[in-house]
Amino acid sequence: MRPKISESLLVCCKLYISEARNSFVIESIERAAKQNNVIVVNKFVDEIYNRTSYTLVAHSSTNSLLDTIPLQNAVTDMVKTALDMIDLRLHEGTHPRLGVVDHILFHPLGTSTLDKAAELCKSIAANIGRLLEVPIYLYGAAHSDGRTLDSIRRDLGYFQPNSDGRQWIGDPNTDISFVKPDEGPLEVDPSKGLITIGASPWVGSCNVPIHSEDIELVKNIARSISEKGGGLPSVQAIGVEHAKGSCEVACYLLDLDRVRAGQVQTEVERVCSELGVTVGKVYLTDFLPEEITNLYAKAIESCFAERI
Ligand SMILES: *[C@@H]1O[C@H](CO)[C@@H](O)[C@H](O)[C@H]1NC(C)=O
Repeated sequence: MRPKISESLLVCCKLYISEARNSFVIESIERAAKQNNVIVVNKFVDEIYNRTSYTLVAHSSTNSLLDTIPLQNAVTDMVKTALDMIDLRLHEGTHPRLGVVDHILFHPLGTSTLDKAAELCKSIAANIGRLLEVPIYLYGAAHSDGRTLDSIRRDLGYFQPNSDGRQWIGDPNTDISFVKPDEGPLEVDPSKGLITIGASPWVGSCNVPIHSEDIELVKNIARSISEKGGGLPSVQAIGVEHAKGSCEVACYLLDLDRVRAGQVQTEVERVCSELGVTVGKVYLTDFLPEEITNLYAKAIESCFAERI
């Protein structure tokens, strides 16, 4: 009997790419996954940020990382396709980014462990750094000291837009001379940028639209709802311009057992009502782990059905 997918899940992998407006490029990257027989469970294309995320899943009935070879090849091929087709010097968007492939993240799923996700993450990072010659910064369980994503991004200047305080245009000119990459070359090719790659427990992400064009005000709102600014525990938040005349508070929810999107909405509304600013409805930029598991199981069933 075939084991139930939900019992043999290993990891979820998310890739964030600095492009959203060229559908040929977006589809070519997706095809690189499919050619390795890996299912893209979710794709979130944000045209305003000019940023796309892909969510992949690996499962194994033997609980062995050997079964993740298709996923490993898929991730490497997706990164290669993105680096070949996208030139960071031409990229524009209001979401921060340091590379064509800005971020790759691994989460354990089901009964799998963080150690397993970290092991897979490190092996993929080493391959990408070596084969594709792009500097790689590890974080979370994949980094020897458990460095956080937030801290490495801060060190690399991620939070400072390189154009008029709200927009990222072209080469971010990242100075990496004082933080050596964990994999890959010691110099940044401005057409590629660099990649942060890590493993962590599940991180939720949600955005709250703010009806104001005052980016400094929105940055303050983000700060005050974040854990760092004395707001909600386990929440990280930044203020970003979204469309012309509107902004968003973009949040990472580091512990969904403590704070979910609904509480973020309530807190943003509370802060904004004091400021006389109106707020839109929070939305998630990805599914929850339970939903990913169900979507994946369904996709596998339908592939199986197609083959017989
Ligand atoms: C979006 O990003 C791509 C690739 O980075 C870039 O070529 C394109 O010019 C950007 N689009 C706009 C409208 O800025």
